[in-house]
Amino acid sequence: MKNIVVVGSQWGDEGKGKIVDWLSEQADVVIRFQGGHNAGHTLVIDGVTYKLRLLPSGIVRKNKISVIGNGVVVDPWALLDEIKELKSKGIQIDIKNLIISESANLILPFHREMDEIREDAAGKGKIGTTRRGIGPAYEDKVGRRSIRVMDLRSEQNLDQRLESVLLHHNAIRKGLGKKIFEKDQLRKDLLKIAPQILQYSQPVWLKINEFKRQKKKILFEGAQGILLDVDHGTYPFVTSSNTVASSAATGTGCGPNSINYVLGITKAYTTRVGEGPFPTELKDETGELLGTRGKEFGTVTSRKRRCGWFDGVLVRQTIKISGINGIALTKLDVLDDLEEIKICIQYELDGKKIDYLPAAVEDQLKIKPVYKTFPGWKTSTKGVKNINKLPENAKKYIFAVEDFIETKISSISTSPEREDTILIENPFEI
Ligand code: GDP
Ligand code: IMO
Ligand code: MG
Repeated sequence: MKNIVVVGSQWGDEGKGKIVDWLSEQADVVIRFQGGHNAGHTLVIDGVTYKLRLLPSGIVRKNKISVIGNGVVVDPWALLDEIKELKSKGIQIDIKNLIISESANLILPFHREMDEIREDAAGKGKIGTTRRGIGPAYEDKVGRRSIRVMDLRSEQNLDQRLESVLLHHNAIRKGLGKKIFEKDQLRKDLLKIAPQILQYSQPVWLKINEFKRQKKKILFEGAQGILLDVDHGTYPFVTSSNTVASSAATGTGCGPNSINYVLGITKAYTTRVGEGPFPTELKDETGELLGTRGKEFGTVTSRKRRCGWFDGVLVRQTIKISGINGIALTKLDVLDDLEEIKICIQYELDGKKIDYLPAAVEDQLKIKPVYKTFPGWKTSTKGVKNINKLPENAKKYIFAVEDFIETKISSISTSPEREDTILIENPFEI
């Protein structure tokens, strides 16, 4: 039996959805364990594009079980919309193939509003969040005043919990000169959709235990990337959850010994959406070219993603932090036209060379990348499925990346399509 956790090794949008979808052929269960509908995972299957936000990427395949773990924050309306949208594309979703943790915390409209109020008030100091209410919802969870899926079962319970969470929110709203949030309409709205959500709700820890007994193969699907982790990322320009692989255990209720392999998804260059440090960012024609060729626009907010060279120092660091065993290198084809390609191998901070990302954001903003330059291959790699068919210079670039990050590249993606992937080492068979 083999359970694999898939995580993003950069700032998100590395192509996790594509790789999870590709790997899910070999899995029985696909589980999301953190984040919410700030995630946007794109799958392209025979020319048809699916954009998933909350639902695990295994949902598009028949006979797979999809699970939303307790660590995910769930906007119930966003979830129902997503289910409806996928059903309209012919995907089967019912209580046989979708399970939602009864302990998952809800994102409610006042969370989304608080996210917006704070981002608007912050002006230049904003984080550039997806404005989905992710941060405020996780704050309420840790503040022990959150409303969870199971609270939809009882009107009285729901009323009491809304009272307590709104006491907190309305104090802040009043302080910021905003209208107070009324409880009664929200309670009614929630009760109306409660049966639709509750039909999927189960104790996920118990189900996972059952899956393990049945020797089912589990694929844990991370959202965001390690550099957006609330502890290990470029704080405060991060998301509000732990995006590292060990979150798969806490975000579902299985122990760390249920994880056998951690696969890091890594783009062959770097992107970031939102504000915050980005040492290898290219604000020139090459950056524009990467953005255009890579179609680097956010799946969730349509914002233009910032683009830059591959940062080996960062990826080597996130591999260590997250215990990554192997890498799926994505979007190699985006580099096809470039004359030369650079990899950041060190930083310079106040005249000194350093080999890791300093923890303080002030230093992260100051560091200068030191590059190693490689010749481009100027040949199309789009759709290549066999490593021997790659141009020599592309192979040299890949081996240099592998060498530098000290980790095996176990697959390479050469287009958005599911099957356009080079398999070097199957993580399910290690
Ligand atoms: P995720 O959030 O990590 O799942 O990534 P996104 O789906 O937000 O962004 C990745 C984008 O790159 C999507 O539009 C994918 O369809 C696309 N993509 C994934 N792999 C490749 C690849 O190898 N080549 C190209 N050109 N596009 C890819
Ligand atoms: P996937 O799963 C890229 C970024 C936002 C912002 C910061 C905080 O598709 O890789 P939040 O709304 O989470 O409070 O925003 O995190 N962010 C992502 N960037 N991909 C994502 O998800 C992201 N989810 C959040 O842009 O900078
Ligand atoms: Mg994405």
